Amino acid sequence: MGRVDFFNEGRVLMLAPMAELTTPPFRRVVRKFSKSAVLFSEMLSSPAVVGGALYNEPFMVKNIDDEPFVFQILGGDPESMSRACRILGDRGCSGVNINMGCSSPTIMKQVRGARLLKEFELSREIVARCREAYGGNLSVKLRTGFEKHDEEFLLDFCRMLVSEGVDFIILHGRFAKLAFKRKADWKMVKLLKESLPVPVVGNGDVENAGQILHHFESTGCDGIMIGREAMKSPWIFVLADHALGRGGDVSDIDLLETAADVLCGLEDFLPPELHKSRAHRFCFYYSKNFKFDHELFRNIRNVDRIPEMIKIIEEYLNRNPHERIIKIPEM
Ligand SMILES: Cc1cc2nc3c(=O)[nH]c(=O)nc-3n(C[C@H](O)[C@H](O)[C@H](O)COP(=O)(O)O)c2cc1C
Repeated sequence: MGRVDFFNEGRVLMLAPMAELTTPPFRRVVRKFSKSAVLFSEMLSSPAVVGGALYNEPFMVKNIDDEPFVFQILGGDPESMSRACRILGDRGCSGVNINMGCSSPTIMKQVRGARLLKEFELSREIVARCREAYGGNLSVKLRTGFEKHDEEFLLDFCRMLVSEGVDFIILHGRFAKLAFKRKADWKMVKLLKESLPVPVVGNGDVENAGQILHHFESTGCDGIMIGREAMKSPWIFVLADHALGRGGDVSDIDLLETAADVLCGLEDFLPPELHKSRAHRFCFYYSKNFKFDHELFRNIRNVDRIPEMIKIIEEYLNRNPHERIIKIPEM
């Protein structure tokens, strides 16, 4: 596949890669809310991709309407990362993203994810080898530093990434040691945007369309990536498109239908042993849409089967009918 330009329309929205959450069925629902958002797979471990691990297969599925779509890979070995790029590229995705942002201690112990920020030459080799192996959009997702926001380091590191051929960079505005503490620093996104010759995508703590507009305006960034808020309210993309003056054809959102869409999709796409855990993970975020979220999620967590979870949401909405529909304002 030739290189697709994700940024030619300007102000691009992206669905963040999220382990155990951005599954093919979840992406299918997001696509209903946005034709243009760039969707990311959850992180795929490069040895698992290269080894053809069976458990990985459901997460390597690409929906027919996923494009524009990016597979994210995680690993620390240049050979396995480049082979994973080639395998995923052969599946026809328009982008591969290298994870240099995951701060989970287990992952960092194995010199993967954000731990790569401390391995300048190894990171260079990984990117160079991936670039050789893959002709589509190659990007890196990273944090603002390892132990602190580190402007000098970040600029040096990103300039190295660009010189090795990455097409764009995604910056989560926290340093690795913060994990999810404090707030993302969008000034670092602005700094990158002003300093690099490639598109820059900002990420961190976006909760509504107003913030999206504000971040585009205050940083000049080319794209904004949305994670947890998109898991809670996948229609954030509709609201953002409206705020950006490019409304789609989605009108009212039915919160029961949307939940059932995701949950039934999990049942259809994933192996049975994953239904309960993946559904609970999704509901953890989705419940936050409702006033009595703790009680609702507690009830969902007490059941194992997806139809029972949908029933609990339905009964909740029968008791609280005014929480069922979100009206999308006319353009
Ligand atoms: C449950 C969960 C899983 C995540 N998994 C990944 C992942 O697989 N790859 C990745 O690069 N980032 C991952 N992230 C980080 C998100 O992509 C994103 O950078 C972070 O959540 C900040 O964005 P947000 O505030 O919009 O959620 C994950 C975050 C969460 C909460």
